[in-house]
Amino acid sequence: MGEERRVTISVIKADIGSIAGHHKVHPDTIAAATRVLAEAKRKGTIIDFYVTHVGDDLQLIMTHRKGVDSPEIHGLAWEAFKKAAEVAKELGLYAAGQDLLSDAFSGNVRGLGPGVAEMEFVERPSEPIVVFMADKTEPGAFNLPLYRIFADPFNTAGLVIDPRMHDGFKFEVLDVLEGKYVVLNAPEELYDLLALIGTPSRYVIKRIYRKRDNEIAAVVSVERLNLIAGRYVGKDDPVAIVRAQSGFPAVGEILEPFSFPHLVAGWMRGSHWGPLMPVSLRDAKCTRFDGPPRIVALGFQVTKGKLIGPVDLFDDPAFDEARRLAQQIADYMRRHGPFMPHRLGPEEMEYTTLPQVLEKLKNRFAEAKDYEKYIKPKIKKSELLTGEETHD
Ligand code: F6R
Ligand code: MG
Ligand code: MG
Repeated sequence: MGEERRVTISVIKADIGSIAGHHKVHPDTIAAATRVLAEAKRKGTIIDFYVTHVGDDLQLIMTHRKGVDSPEIHGLAWEAFKKAAEVAKELGLYAAGQDLLSDAFSGNVRGLGPGVAEMEFVERPSEPIVVFMADKTEPGAFNLPLYRIFADPFNTAGLVIDPRMHDGFKFEVLDVLEGKYVVLNAPEELYDLLALIGTPSRYVIKRIYRKRDNEIAAVVSVERLNLIAGRYVGKDDPVAIVRAQSGFPAVGEILEPFSFPHLVAGWMRGSHWGPLMPVSLRDAKCTRFDGPPRIVALGFQVTKGKLIGPVDLFDDPAFDEARRLAQQIADYMRRHGPFMPHRLGPEEMEYTTLPQVLEKLKNRFAEAKDYEKYIKPKIKKSELLTGEETHD
């Protein structure tokens, strides 16, 4: 053990433009980003890398010894995205350069558009990790599966059986609207945890630590692009890194929650609830109604900082039923058309282009006759809950 074995995994992603609308990253943009990272590997800035895509998001998976939030690594990712965006512009790809919100890089890509998940740890003798990458959804989409992986013994047998996990895990939850975070312990504070993360648009699990030794276990990209840009720029298409085995959940326990294609916010125009469909890299492209939202899981062994792999973990008939169920849910949800609960609720729609349409109708509203007498609610909602009858 020692400093030499500390390694950082950085997964940094951005939508820099895609082919045929918001469908799929173009291979030439992948090649442009790969060239930048290959050069960085040659120079020794990074140890290893893997460039891939999920839907219209270009994904840079890198290993290095520079720790999280390293200006050098973030600068490298920024350069790779810039080069890829140049190619996207030349090819006239759709939304070329979309997620690169600023022209000026100043040491960290957070807040500039790309999504970032990074963790640093001392490499174990054998270090399996799973990198999740989703398209057409938001960071809170990981709340439910991460809860099940790290807090639900009906999902993760190791929480009961493995003494190294038996004390549970600590969840760092970020309030993305207020910019505050809270750390909650599982299992002691499960109900408090659920009270927050059941609102995935606002409270997002950012990091998870093993309680007995504070080892980092999972990290999620929590950037919310709309909140950063102040206008609609698509959903945030999150990524996550999870460590596996030997005192962490087994790879199979990490994949298990995705056998249930839970409803997530995103899909068409970032404005609809839809099932999260686990897919292989081959099927990591959004078609039907720009979706349904998809997630890929790549497994690696990290060995002396090198990325051994990947294995495409959802490329397996064991997830066929989840995909079939996702299709059925997609059918069911789609039949609601523009109605809630398929379409997101009003708070979330604020970050889309809908307010522009509503603004147009504002002056068309006339006072409703007899509103005061018959229609205006006499009892406040809070009073209804207490059962006390009051009049205002
Ligand atoms: C969702 C997404 C797409 C677009 C849709 C409309 O994250 O990227 O569903 O919102 O294709 O795109 P525009 O407005 O660019 O025509
Ligand atoms: Mg997009
Ligand atoms: Mg995307």
